Amino acid sequence: MVKKCLFPAAGYGTRFLPATKATPKEMLPVLTKPLIQYGVEEALEANLKTMAIITGRGKRAIEDHFDISYELEHQIKDTSKEHLLREIRSLISQCTFSYTRQVEMKGLGHAILTGETLIGNEPFAVILADDLCTYKGDNVLKQMIEVYEKYQCSIVAIEEIPKEETHKYGVIAGHLVDNTDDTYRVTDMVEKPSPEDAPSNMAIIGRYILTPDIFEILKETKPGKGGEIQITDALLEQAKQGKVIAYRFKGKRFDCGSVDGFVEATNYFYNKTKG
Ligand code: UTP
Repeated sequence: MVKKCLFPAAGYGTRFLPATKATPKEMLPVLTKPLIQYGVEEALEANLKTMAIITGRGKRAIEDHFDISYELEHQIKDTSKEHLLREIRSLISQCTFSYTRQVEMKGLGHAILTGETLIGNEPFAVILADDLCTYKGDNVLKQMIEVYEKYQCSIVAIEEIPKEETHKYGVIAGHLVDNTDDTYRVTDMVEKPSPEDAPSNMAIIGRYILTPDIFEILKETKPGKGGEIQITDALLEQAKQGKVIAYRFKGKRFDCGSVDGFVEATNYFYNKTKG
């Protein structure tokens, strides 16, 4: 059973400088809620209650966010503003949060490996909070857990992207296993290929279910694209043994790691509150 969710949140968020100079990218709000809170809500809705967060220097605001602020609570108690803290209080009471620091930012694969100490020897979910997902039915992580229960191997969420954007993503090749649930057995995956080298236009987005053998593989994984330890390279080792399923999720994803995606998400959620 998948019980824990890992949130790699140690990256520098350079695309949002200067905002991210002293504020974690994961704390940037879409409307009034920080990105990472959307992620934690998604995990909780999928019945995962143990949140394992990879932080780094300058990321302490994340820990404070998932904690009680006595002064603030005292200040707004019995006022008309008290309801504004209801959602976050409810999350804090239902989940446990643990943290470990990635000391050197050596890439997403390295961040996930840093999480071994919090995860242990069990399958786990990964949410990249800057990919904000929404769907009116079961959320993306919940959909993926169903797929995991069927295949019992690592699962990556994919979506079709315009071919000219392949250089921003991990891109897979695979063959359809079951068109009733949109699953593909992955045969190849390449990190940020140019359009000419991309094996398809099916890109991995920031949701994964990983089996714990990934940690041993990551320990052996050499730095790849951009000199970083890539989760895509480690997953390829599992894929060679037929142990990675790509799942074309139902829903909408906003790339909130980019300014365009962030603005799009803000408009989408704003219009939702109005209509
Ligand atoms: P990104 O490459 O999108 O994030 O990494 P970034 O490096 O923070 O942003 P830019 O490109 O400089 O603007 C994807 C996810 O992996 C985490 C990031 O925090 C983000 O959630 N990450 C990345 C780590 O935790 N550690 C790393 O060493 C690299």
